[in-house]
Amino acid sequence: MADLQAALEALLSDALTAEFGADYAATDPLIRPSAFADYQSAIAMTLAKRLGMQPREVAERIVGHLEAAPICEHAEVSGPGFINITLSDNWLAGQATALVTDPRLGVELVDAPQTVVVDYSGPNVAKELHAGHLRVTGVGDAIVRVLEHLGHTVIRAAHLGDWGTQFGMLIEHALEVGEQTTYDQLATGEFTDFYQAANEKFRSDPAFADRSRRRVVLLQAGEEQSLRVWHLLVTDSMEYLRKLYARLHITLTDDDMDPESFYNPMLPGLCDELEASGLAVVSDGALCVFPPGFTGRDGSPLPLILRKSDGGYGYAATDVAAIRYRLLDLKADRVIYVVGSEQQQHLAMVLAVARQAGWLTDAQSAEHAVVGLMTGPGGQRLRTRSGGQYKLAELIDEAVERAEKVINDRYDGAELRAQIAEDVGVGALKYGDLSVARTSSYVLDFDRLLALTGNTGPYLQYATARIRSIFQRAGLAPDLAAGPIELAEPAERALALRLLGFGTAVAETAQAAEPHKLAAFLFDTASDFTTFYEQCPVLRAGSDRLRNSRLALASLTLKVLLSGLDLLGIPVPQRM
Ligand code: ARG
Repeated sequence: MADLQAALEALLSDALTAEFGADYAATDPLIRPSAFADYQSAIAMTLAKRLGMQPREVAERIVGHLEAAPICEHAEVSGPGFINITLSDNWLAGQATALVTDPRLGVELVDAPQTVVVDYSGPNVAKELHAGHLRVTGVGDAIVRVLEHLGHTVIRAAHLGDWGTQFGMLIEHALEVGEQTTYDQLATGEFTDFYQAANEKFRSDPAFADRSRRRVVLLQAGEEQSLRVWHLLVTDSMEYLRKLYARLHITLTDDDMDPESFYNPMLPGLCDELEASGLAVVSDGALCVFPPGFTGRDGSPLPLILRKSDGGYGYAATDVAAIRYRLLDLKADRVIYVVGSEQQQHLAMVLAVARQAGWLTDAQSAEHAVVGLMTGPGGQRLRTRSGGQYKLAELIDEAVERAEKVINDRYDGAELRAQIAEDVGVGALKYGDLSVARTSSYVLDFDRLLALTGNTGPYLQYATARIRSIFQRAGLAPDLAAGPIELAEPAERALALRLLGFGTAVAETAQAAEPHKLAAFLFDTASDFTTFYEQCPVLRAGSDRLRNSRLALASLTLKVLLSGLDLLGIPVPQRM
């Protein structure tokens, strides 16, 4: 049994069966780590009513069964009926020793793998990613990595905005600039000027605006020249995204793009289907669905517009087609939208329609993993010095530039230094984002992100570098430290107990789609290691046995930190 929580759940389940009968075996034992013992169970409170007993009495009767088990050192009733459990040192030491040679480090594969579609990053063609994309990209990628590690089949879907009326003006502008010039200019990934120039003309030149509108119709009809220029914009955008994702250690590839244009051919059929079933109705000339429970300010039902009165399809129609495709064609068991909070109502309506249409059943789940804002100082909108939108690339550059000042300057190789700064800067930025609950907003503060102490990327990276240097001084490869692990000092015991919780931390992260849970676990792990290293000499331990035990604990810590940081998508330099 590699996972502590699972072992305790089994123990409690056995105790319930022995005391109250098999009917009670499957009750959730509500086990949590506790400040008063190692773990605490609130099971007696939930069972008391069903058993017609006082919670304390229920707890007393369960406790009687626990202490006989080898895993349990001591169990006692506390307060209104909590059961406090202290684990046996010997048992813990044995588990920790077994963990050293467990390639999965206690993270068990799930019994029932699911097909999970994760919709994240949400890039748009001919637009640069801005600061706001950091969160929806990084959080989504961490969720994907964690789910895959647990054995789920993950389908990454970067819902790419490559369709819509804005392409009329972009294509017209490209034709005026010249196709080759456009291609070369955009190959650098600097779309902002191009987009703004097109937009400016659209607003100031009525003839251009007219041509743009006609161009949209041509594009949608598949006219050759329009398609060719559109392809050129898509190609340049993909090139740009590939580079940026690589720099950010994001696992999205070309194959993971989920372009809006892909759904375009499905839209007429989708509308027919929903109209035939009576779900979609024509209102003011537009085809709409009115999912129950959504009302506007004046209390009137809110429409999700499938087809506008001019016959065009918009963002909502595409999202309805996408959820249908994901549930019916990809046969997703779970769909996770890692999207900003400003799209909460839109997505809630899309999911409601999927449920109404019968595509989304109770056997499946679809959720909006809401992502809050990253703001400037004082919670204000994040702005560059010149007042514009922060580009994600600029944010990374700034993080890396500042990281150069944080890292140790005794490394004289310029290339190595640059690589370390890159890892530390990118890691600080990404970790800073992943370590806060994704729903909350936070203020971008480079000093805090790059601090070498506290719950930061650099602190965790530094912890791994420090462990590697212990092994370097020992002249030993970390993998060769096999223990056995002994737990004499409280700091050793606390560290082992923590490391044995890795499996639970990963599972909880996947379940809630909340990477900050894993981040918090890694920070606690690094903190426990720091205390251990302060209190327990490793290389100068009193005996070989003790030294081997502590080296094994250090090696295990390194492996857990590296695995956890990898699951979060945080690069780790060898030295710092
Ligand atoms: N491209 C969209 C935007 O910029 C985000 C896409 C989010 N995903 C979705 N299925 N709607 O707003």
